[in-house]
Amino acid sequence: MTELEAKSKIAELSKQVDYHNQLYYGEDRTEISDFEFDKLLQELIDLESKFPTLKLQDSPTQRVGGTITKSFETVYHKFPMLSLSNTYSKEELTDFHDRVVKGLGHEDFEYFCELKFDGTALSLTYKNGYLDKAVTRGDGTRGDNITTNAKTIRTIPLRLTAGDLPEEFEVRGEVFMPREVFDRINAEREDIGEERLANPRNTTSGTLKMQDSSVVASRNLDCFLYSVLGDDLAFDNHADSIDRLERWGFNVSPTYRRCSSIDEVFEYIAEWEMKRLELPLDTDGVVIKINNFKQREQLGSTAKSPRWAIAYKYKSESAATKLNAITYQVGRTGAITPVAELEPVFLAGTTVKRASLHNANEIARLDLRVGDTVFVEKGGEIIPKVTGVHLDERPPDSEPVKYIENCPKCDTELIRMEGEAVHYCSNVESCPPQVLGRLEHFIQRRAMNIESLGKETLKGLIDKGLVENPADLYDLTFETLNGLEFQVASDKNENGYSVRSLREKSAQNIIDSIEKSKAIAFEDVLFGIGIRFVGQTVAEKLADHFESIDRLMEASYEELLEAPEIGEKIAISLQQFFESEKNREFIDRLKATGLQMAVDKSGDIADSNILEGKTFVISGVFTNHSRDELKEMIKKNGGKNVSSVSAKLDYLVAGDNMGPSKLEKANKFGVKIISESEFETLLGL
Ligand code: IVH
Repeated sequence: MTELEAKSKIAELSKQVDYHNQLYYGEDRTEISDFEFDKLLQELIDLESKFPTLKLQDSPTQRVGGTITKSFETVYHKFPMLSLSNTYSKEELTDFHDRVVKGLGHEDFEYFCELKFDGTALSLTYKNGYLDKAVTRGDGTRGDNITTNAKTIRTIPLRLTAGDLPEEFEVRGEVFMPREVFDRINAEREDIGEERLANPRNTTSGTLKMQDSSVVASRNLDCFLYSVLGDDLAFDNHADSIDRLERWGFNVSPTYRRCSSIDEVFEYIAEWEMKRLELPLDTDGVVIKINNFKQREQLGSTAKSPRWAIAYKYKSESAATKLNAITYQVGRTGAITPVAELEPVFLAGTTVKRASLHNANEIARLDLRVGDTVFVEKGGEIIPKVTGVHLDERPPDSEPVKYIENCPKCDTELIRMEGEAVHYCSNVESCPPQVLGRLEHFIQRRAMNIESLGKETLKGLIDKGLVENPADLYDLTFETLNGLEFQVASDKNENGYSVRSLREKSAQNIIDSIEKSKAIAFEDVLFGIGIRFVGQTVAEKLADHFESIDRLMEASYEELLEAPEIGEKIAISLQQFFESEKNREFIDRLKATGLQMAVDKSGDIADSNILEGKTFVISGVFTNHSRDELKEMIKKNGGKNVSSVSAKLDYLVAGDNMGPSKLEKANKFGVKIISESEFETLLGL
């Protein structure tokens, strides 16, 4: 390809990717499959790496990251990034108002109220419409240049097209992690035995400083902008600047309000105290700013913060209640979590009965004793926290909590690894919650996708002694499942359970999805196996690097560390897993059932003209390939995809659950009907 051809191809592909991104993120719909989209994007990435000088400044490939920054450059802020003085009381806010009135010499001014978003401040510089630099607050005078990471945040525009843009200006705002994303990351971490992250704010600042921008991209950060700075800007008040920001295409939270008196400010504060809890992100107060820029100048700033603005912080709601007991939960990886069982108490809209205590250190830190009156708090996060003990109310005969030494479910002695806060039950093979957790992890949609099984049925199968280990699933037969009766917990019955029986259809569905899981890609199988610290991304990297379970199992510690993103913790965990005789047997059994234990390269076929002149209709669901992959294979080999069956059609590739009318027509016209494996044979696979 010549440079000229590459230039126009890059422009065309960038436009297409932008278009589909806009549909997906902006309008919540799609016109092409994920597979087709990934192909476009990959083609663009490949071309950009071949012709780096032709990469567009606002290339959509920057959204997915991929660059590694070893250390971030320090950049001085053109305008210092001040902080805000905080107040927690109405009185202090009234004092602020009085100071403003005094400073201005009159009451003729407006306030502008915004929520205080709980994330990390970021400054963005735009030059000639393009995002030039993204810098963290740092110490207020200079911060880190994290532009490549910021570019993965989809609500930060890479290019602006409005007609009234200043040549150069700065926009500031708050980067945050939506609570839903934070909860998802923590659920995933718990699933693979990692400790939970503390809160969305710390996670956001940690994420922005990550070296690998593709990991930043996967964390779905978001950003609200709240101020514009520059020389000779065309507006003289904050409300107009916010209006301009919105029109230029920046993400501005619609929660702001212009207030013409301090009473209106109080109303705003009262209105948002509870309403803010329904927002998808954490907020911890209200920022009250003087609207007019001239008046701001008149009031000035101290070295640390402006005199024209203040933050009113909401107190996190807290309640006192009795600690009735401490119970212990056992997770899939055997991790023990102590839980405070509380006298039910109403707090910020819900009744709180339990709160996680995380680990033994936390209990010791709080010096908790059963019978204590404890303070429970619900900050931005939904999960309540025990924050302290009301010592005056401590019963005289109370004793410090003695942390359990044996597993509450199987009585095995607990272990605690050096440098770790969490205790573990080492009875991996038969501790009931670990057995269930491992199976649940294995069948989940992101792994083997056998979710038709359901948690209750899974429990039933374990109770009946039919499965203990994920490999046992592949020994199940329709005959065993059909009509199988098992107990399900129920509070409606006196004995605490009811009996359920599996119908023919459910039994068949389960068998079918187990069978289908044999086609699941190696990387997902590896994730499903459930090795500690091996999450989806790590499984993908390992599969890419080692290509088969055999090579992964044989890898030495040093070889494991050579794989991208594999550190000591994961390498040790892998070695420990594969050292166990039982685990090796388990892997052998999975292999014997025909699961994908190596990367499938059949999709990487070279282009050919084997199918030249032939037409195909693809219909139904397939085991080894998606419909899009099959269509792609046809195209790559010179064939043509058509959508309806006619007398001229050469092949109908028939999968499961295909529509009867296509089949009928194909029979009527005498069209050749072939299965997926016959199709593969056509291609010589
Ligand atoms: S205005 C001169 N508006 O709070 C200060 N800040 O303590 C200009 N913040 O560093 C900041 N929401 O990270 C402003 N609506 C909002 C905000 C906000 C959150 C953060 C920001 C800033 C810190 C100040």
